[in-house]
Amino acid sequence: MPEVVSYALDGDIAVITVDNPPVNALSLPVRRGLAACFERFAGDASAKAAVLICSGRTFIAGADITEFDKPIEEPWLPKVVHYIEDLAKPVVAAIHGTALGGGLETAMGCHYRVAVAAAQVGLPEVSLGLLPGATGTQRLPRLAGVEAALNAMISGRPMPAKVAHEKGVLDAIIDGDLKAGAVAFARDLVKAGKGPRKVREIALDAASLPAGFFSDYRKSIARETRGFFAPEQIIKCVEAAVSLPYDQAVKRENELFMQCMTSPQSRAQRHLFFAEREVSKVPDVPKDTALRPIHQVAVVGGGTMGGGIAMNFANVGIPVILKEINQEALDRGMAIIRGNYEGPVKKGRMSQEAMDKCMALITPTLDYKDLGNADLVIEAVFETMAVKEIVFKELDAVCKQGAILASNTSTLNVDEIAAFTRRPEDVIGLHFFAPANVMTLLEIVRGAKTSNEVIATSMALAKTIRKIGVLVRVCFGFVGNRMFFPYVREAQRMMLEGVPPERVDRVAFEWGMAMGPHGVSDLSGLDVFDKLNKEWKDKPNDPAYCRMIHALVEKGRLGQKSGAGIYKYEGRTPVPDPEVTALAKAEAERLGVQQVEVSDEEIIERLLFAMINEGALILDEGIAMRASDIDVVFCHGYGMPRHRGGPMKYADEVGLAKVVAAMEKYRARYGDLYWTPAPLLARLAKEGKTFNG
Ligand code: 3HC
Repeated sequence: MPEVVSYALDGDIAVITVDNPPVNALSLPVRRGLAACFERFAGDASAKAAVLICSGRTFIAGADITEFDKPIEEPWLPKVVHYIEDLAKPVVAAIHGTALGGGLETAMGCHYRVAVAAAQVGLPEVSLGLLPGATGTQRLPRLAGVEAALNAMISGRPMPAKVAHEKGVLDAIIDGDLKAGAVAFARDLVKAGKGPRKVREIALDAASLPAGFFSDYRKSIARETRGFFAPEQIIKCVEAAVSLPYDQAVKRENELFMQCMTSPQSRAQRHLFFAEREVSKVPDVPKDTALRPIHQVAVVGGGTMGGGIAMNFANVGIPVILKEINQEALDRGMAIIRGNYEGPVKKGRMSQEAMDKCMALITPTLDYKDLGNADLVIEAVFETMAVKEIVFKELDAVCKQGAILASNTSTLNVDEIAAFTRRPEDVIGLHFFAPANVMTLLEIVRGAKTSNEVIATSMALAKTIRKIGVLVRVCFGFVGNRMFFPYVREAQRMMLEGVPPERVDRVAFEWGMAMGPHGVSDLSGLDVFDKLNKEWKDKPNDPAYCRMIHALVEKGRLGQKSGAGIYKYEGRTPVPDPEVTALAKAEAERLGVQQVEVSDEEIIERLLFAMINEGALILDEGIAMRASDIDVVFCHGYGMPRHRGGPMKYADEVGLAKVVAAMEKYRARYGDLYWTPAPLLARLAKEGKTFNG
């Protein structure tokens, strides 16, 4: 087996190379190899200094995340880092690609750091529910300053080499060949008689910080880190860095790291890390499937959705034609797009020039004939089959051969839509989530006849427009909406049972959802839900099903957009409305729905377990390829917090037997219709297994 860490001499400079593809993660063999090579360097009298460099596409990109579920094996990384730092001869880290997490920590254990200009360095552990646990929380503040280090660790965002150089994390930027440059840098050190320089000896003390620094810092990040465990632990480590002797602070870092690593949150976030990479793999579509070039896109329907979709392509430099039915609608659509761009320009997040470039890439039209040259057309019109039929028949007539014809339908049968054309193999669902220019999810719905080329091109396209594409199959609502409906259904049912909507929303929010189910229903538009329910052929045979949505729509309460829905609105602030409570009571009496006292725990169980059970059916039916794909859908498209890892991972954490037991409790109360455990769920629970096993 080739060595993952090798030792060579370049004159009087030792070159220690890590070669552990794909990203040189610090697996046990790498840690052992580093320890052995640096020991050899220590004893090699002919080597006056050392360079630590990596083969392949990147410097060490961090600890090996797959090892976190296994027992720790020595040498543990902090030990390696300290061994390097304590060497009597200077060590230079030579960085290319991304020095992340344990990679940057190793580099900060070295006495000097150089990098190519395109490199990035960072401590992204927070996105895995962790903190930098190999002395990173102690070293980065010493090099970059307390606030900059906190910002880097709390956001997890890497710094470009230039910024890292300015902040003192890097000593030099190397032009040209990195290895040659780093060896020359090391040789210069030797010549100048410059020895090791220990980061841990850089002074750092609380007196240098403004009064109340940490409490102000906590307040400043409270909103964006709500519900997450790791950010607070990172702050505690930095507090220790400024108030405790180094060795004690490292001990504290280690304790808090272990707390993070064994937390359900970190398990959930690590799960998502791999889920987001797994999701692009489609077992039955060969990797070498030819991709169709997409140079020109068209969007049919210039409403909020169509406009948002068009922006995705303009943002990455792909020209888009926006087709509407009349001039007024077209002008309105273009104005919405303009408004969407103006926001970030006003806030300084986008330049006027960039906005003008994007706007220039969007061409409005009223004529289907202008779509003849498009490589991809996305329909984003009214959500009824009758309208889809008109549009797809037109597209079939005007679009060139080989064009991909996509529907942005959120629920309807893509096979039926495909049958309106003479080329069902070119038809696919591309379901964007509102606001389409912001949300990162793209549900890609393959029809029974969709060709591999069209699937592969759509998956690649998702990456081009910086979205995460999840491939699913046809059913009403696909994965996301089909699972979201039972969640809304339970929220609706609880409203009839006398549970105040604001309480359900508060409990869901506290669990971590960006918004509770009632707030989301009002935001999406109750009329939208009502219309979907009407289109749904296999709606549950239950007169109480989403009854309040229908009753409110009948009263003209469509949600936020009409100023009142489940809540009434003061501006965009939802206010509980006694009129709705009275209506719910009257409807409950009419339908014979009992008033029920529910605990917060029951609210979560009913909302989540209803959703999870649907997820199990979806998996059994092959609508989603993997449980982890479902988790990606919910964390990217439905505001589920990453620290829960998605509904299926949450079920695994709760324990499937517990989920089934709770469902049986509700089944006894409500009957079989909604609460019969899906066969897959029942089987896995019985076997003591998990969805993501
Ligand atoms: N451990 C194990 N596997 C890893 C890994 C890691 N740290 N980082 C990436 N991989 C795997 C990926 O799962 C993927 O595997 P696959 O091909 O089987 O799907 C493969 O390497 C390539 O990864 P990407 O597809 O993500 O490649 P990119 O080129 O798009 O991105 C990257 C490269 C920027 C390095 C990105 O992989 C990344 O961000 N990795 C994680 C970095 C990170 O979080 N490091 C901190 C780890 S925790 C730590 O260090 C704790 C310490 O403080 C003690």
